[in-house]
Amino acid sequence: MTTPSLLILPGDGIGPEVMAEVRRIIDWFGAKRGLQFDVSEDLVGGCAYDKHGTPLHDDTMAKAQEVDAVLLGAVGGPQYDNLDFSVKPERGLLRLRKEMDLFSNLRPAQCFDALSDFSSLKKDVVAGLDIMIVRELTSGVYFGEPRGIFTEGNERVGINTQRYTESEIARVARSAFELAMKRDKKLCSMEKANVMESGILWREVVTEVGRDYPEVELSHMYADAGAMQLTRWPKQFDVIVTDNLFGDLLSDLAAMLTGSLGMLPSASLGAPMENGRPKALYEPVHGSAPDIAGQGKANPIACILSFAMALRYSFDQGTEAARLEAAIEKVLADGLRTADLMGPEGGIPVSTSGMGDAILGALDASL
Ligand code: IPM
Ligand code: MG
Repeated sequence: MTTPSLLILPGDGIGPEVMAEVRRIIDWFGAKRGLQFDVSEDLVGGCAYDKHGTPLHDDTMAKAQEVDAVLLGAVGGPQYDNLDFSVKPERGLLRLRKEMDLFSNLRPAQCFDALSDFSSLKKDVVAGLDIMIVRELTSGVYFGEPRGIFTEGNERVGINTQRYTESEIARVARSAFELAMKRDKKLCSMEKANVMESGILWREVVTEVGRDYPEVELSHMYADAGAMQLTRWPKQFDVIVTDNLFGDLLSDLAAMLTGSLGMLPSASLGAPMENGRPKALYEPVHGSAPDIAGQGKANPIACILSFAMALRYSFDQGTEAARLEAAIEKVLADGLRTADLMGPEGGIPVSTSGMGDAILGALDASL
């Protein structure tokens, strides 16, 4: 079997420093578990713009299409805020998602036991929370045409278009049902069928796909009510499927329920390639946090958990993924905290690399 390939795109802000910890974890799996990866590294976002004048060079795009998985840190920073829209760091990420056709974005929101006091919600509302948001990632208002800022009469008008085809809805719905089958067999679809035609179609197509999954209990909710229910009693949900924009909002909301954005990974999956693996990009849900970049304050856990998702979804290494997740649970239970996790109850403060050291130590102890 050929060595699986991994393209690492650390990006901007805290991206490089959290990714440095992931590289150490990858090396550990190579040395201690015989899991070798053919790792290459490249630029995305503002750093790519600085070097090439584009947030994603065509060569990097081509590489991303060829590898078994892409692991991305974060993109963006205030120094890029005034760039032309077409070369903003985010466009690099959006191009990767679109051209790799990564339509199914898995965003788990899981509350780690050691952090259940840390949520802004009451402990019993979040303790044990484990939900998965499946966000459509390659269509909807993010990409719909027409779009732009136009002049009508004597004023400007900004236009974006929410557009979904049946097949786009059906494929993300199917991925959500498949996931629900492996979990609690409960799926809630969220849209705004009360005001949007695209929402009406969304509801119809999800219902149709659901006929192939009679064991899955399917429900529908308007996305605004969904946001309310997520904050009221999130444990009523298991898998949620929703469109690109609602998924963007609801996944931030769900992430915060769990106590820290710095903890949550994501997987963006496309159709299976010839080798049977899905096209895939893994990235933390958090952004580039330019305010703390370069200070050793960033929490590397979301990025490390993104690699755990890669082990599980791209490389069929569910047992090793679980080993890594357990190592993270262990260091949290031991009280180690990066700055973002330091709540009123205190803890043992660690830097980015200190957290990496502790996770490596827990991995060693797991052998
Ligand atoms: C996300 C981010 C991105 C999005 C930005 C950085 C383009 O918010 O991944 O949730 O809006 O999709
Ligand atoms: Mg977002």
